[in-house]
Amino acid sequence: MKVQNLRELLVDELRDLYSAETQLTQALPKVAKTSSRPELKKAIEHHLKETEGQVTRLEQAFQQLHENPKGKMCEGMKGLITETDQRIKDGGDPATLDAGLIAEAQRVEHYEISAYGSARTFANLLGEKNVVHLLEQTLQEEKAADAKLNCWPRPSIWKPAQPDPEMLRAGEAAASPSAFAGGDGLRRDAALPPAPRRRRLPAPDRSRCRFSPPPENRETAPGKHREGEV
Ligand SMILES: [Fe+2]
Repeated sequence: MKVQNLRELLVDELRDLYSAETQLTQALPKVAKTSSRPELKKAIEHHLKETEGQVTRLEQAFQQLHENPKGKMCEGMKGLITETDQRIKDGGDPATLDAGLIAEAQRVEHYEISAYGSARTFANLLGEKNVVHLLEQTLQEEKAADAKLNCWPRPSIWKPAQPDPEMLRAGEAAASPSAFAGGDGLRRDAALPPAPRRRRLPAPDRSRCRFSPPPENRETAPGKHREGEV
């Protein structure tokens, strides 16, 4: 759609969000059904209810603007859902698949947070206070959903794989002083400069994690995870 002013852009962005949320209401039941952990299933079902409320809020925003919510397909959400469907189809170890579903869900949340943030800014600039209020409520829900996903006790389901004996041997050889002299025949890169020291990342702020992990994962409570850990 060719947009000539900020109001048209806001309506177009809201139509995109309406399509995104509607697609999600159809996709989430399948994700909930696939998850093997009852707690994860419950969390997804809870977000489905929230998403239905978000669709209603968008309809209210369109009423405020005297516009029709339909007429656009959100290709971004369509792509994210296609990837999630593929993850489900590929299948695999149930606990690992759960970790994959959490990762897909977090992609969706980040997409929505960005879209709602922009739409709220446009509505604010246009002085559409009621629309701002509606979008702000949903934005906070999306941020809370993302925070819950951050707190999900993933390390407990991410069991380390059996170490590869070849890799172990190579690691031991690399650690020995003779390795750098090339005497054991395992290291071929002795001439390379030593790898740069890894910078220690600051500890993530978990102070807003109010989600309590399931009982069997208490030992991996929020605060013990590294950022980006699956
Ligand atoms: Fe949403």
